[in-house]
Amino acid sequence: MVEILRTPDALAAFRASHGTARRLAMVPTMGFLHEGHVSLLRGARRLVPSEHGTVLLTIFVNPTQFADNEDLGVYPRDEAGDLAKAEACGVDVAFCPTDPALLYPSRQTWVDVEGLSTGLCGGSRPRHFRGVCTIVAKLWGLARPDVAVFGEKDFQQLAILRRMHADLFLCGEIVSMPIVRGPDGLAMSSRNSKLSVQARAQALSIPALLAEVRRRFSEGQRTSAQLLDDATRQLQPGVVDYVEMVDAQDLSRVQTVVAPTLVAVAARFGGVRLIDNTVLRP
Ligand code: PAF
Repeated sequence: MVEILRTPDALAAFRASHGTARRLAMVPTMGFLHEGHVSLLRGARRLVPSEHGTVLLTIFVNPTQFADNEDLGVYPRDEAGDLAKAEACGVDVAFCPTDPALLYPSRQTWVDVEGLSTGLCGGSRPRHFRGVCTIVAKLWGLARPDVAVFGEKDFQQLAILRRMHADLFLCGEIVSMPIVRGPDGLAMSSRNSKLSVQARAQALSIPALLAEVRRRFSEGQRTSAQLLDDATRQLQPGVVDYVEMVDAQDLSRVQTVVAPTLVAVAARFGGVRLIDNTVLRP
């Protein structure tokens, strides 16, 4: 059975009694678990086998990372289903706070990673990463994990959390897991459940675009003009938030691929905003 903790105090008490002899792996999520999350949970279990430690899943739909015009109110939730999946993945403990206690005692303290948060998704979601970093820092302080596992689909989030982890001298380490795709190539996301059949079909233009960019790259094309220009026509006008090539380390724009380069896409289909990416390695 997965042990369920409901309050920050309960998580802190759990951590205190857990001790340091056994390792603790934390997988922070907003729930509505899909195959991408399952790969994070299984990855955490591999990193910390049962005989050596504990896998902690956290489920919290964090209001502070949603803007007023975003989908907080309709964000999909299914705690019972999530806990069944967690159990099947060998999760030991789930932190599912039912009240907003995680946002308090005050709402005066924010963790803001400045430079990396401004481009890509930060352009259209200006306070998003501040909300993400603040909640992950709180979870980190309560759980003090030996390792925390995040997915590479949220590549910018991962880069920002790595920066926060280093800059705040947080304990433990961050491990990332590759993107998981459905049989049609669409990257797994809780928001996929909100796509109509038609919108899902249109959304396949994202993995198609990324596959086209990878094909051109494998043929030796290296400039953003060669790699992106008419490839982006695969996405219908009006749906695209951004298609960008940036350095995979510092997320600065690049014109020519000379180091690992992230090709990142954000677009809306039937009102559902999806992100995806691939890394080109010369
Ligand atoms: O990636 C997510 O699901 C969220 O941004 C996270 C890291 C759980 C913080 O709320």
